[in-house]
Amino acid sequence: MPARKSAAPVPHVPSESAAAFRKRLHSWFRTHARDLPWRRTRDPYRILISELMLQQTQVSRVLDFYRRFLERFPDLHSLAKAKPQRVLEAWAGLGYYARARNLHKLAKHVTDTRDGVIPNDPGELRSLPGVGAYTAGAVASFAYEKRAALVDTNVARVLHRVFAPELDPKSGAGLKRLWHIAEQLLPRTGRVVWTHNQALMELGALVCSARSPKCGECPVHQMCASRERFALSNTLVPPTQKRPRRYRNGR
Ligand code: ADE
Repeated sequence: MPARKSAAPVPHVPSESAAAFRKRLHSWFRTHARDLPWRRTRDPYRILISELMLQQTQVSRVLDFYRRFLERFPDLHSLAKAKPQRVLEAWAGLGYYARARNLHKLAKHVTDTRDGVIPNDPGELRSLPGVGAYTAGAVASFAYEKRAALVDTNVARVLHRVFAPELDPKSGAGLKRLWHIAEQLLPRTGRVVWTHNQALMELGALVCSARSPKCGECPVHQMCASRERFALSNTLVPPTQKRPRRYRNGR
């Protein structure tokens, strides 16, 4: 049988590079992490609420909604027995109301069929309403300290730039390969996975931002495959000016 053609090989991260990346990233996180309320808890319900609110919404906007929502529905049980209208009211202003409707469905389902216990296995989490691969990895690793990878937009950007600039993170195949990289980078123990996943997200949010990455502040810039591309664009072209063609795509 002829070999099947594939667009880009599945990137392999050598274990020494993975270890060096983790060491730099975790040490940066210890001194730069924001103190966020969902980082002070391991309660799966609270973590689930935070992760659903943080989809498509910035941290600064979520903070107040998160506090008020939990005052109104302090646990899964109170949410499960609420009228749908009350849940939507508590979500009002955050947008993307399908998230609130799915969350309410999830609360009722977990109360009725699982004795109110949110599962800890990413595969089981994914079977719940409104829970995709990212949210499943987030709840498993942040609430239960399970060894689960996660890739959201911020993490995808970091992994793409550092390890695999040749991939298209917006294509299905590219994203699948970025998940594969995230899995290769995972530390061995769940407690460290908590730090690792939070740190990846924090790096994407605070340093490796979409439009103006702060490469000078990046703990992993020495090993970043896009380092030269950004060095060119940061020094040669003012931020408001379009980069000349020869500097695009790192050329
Ligand atoms: N966005 C999604 N999850 C987050 C988290 N745990 N911390 C900061 N930003 C996030």
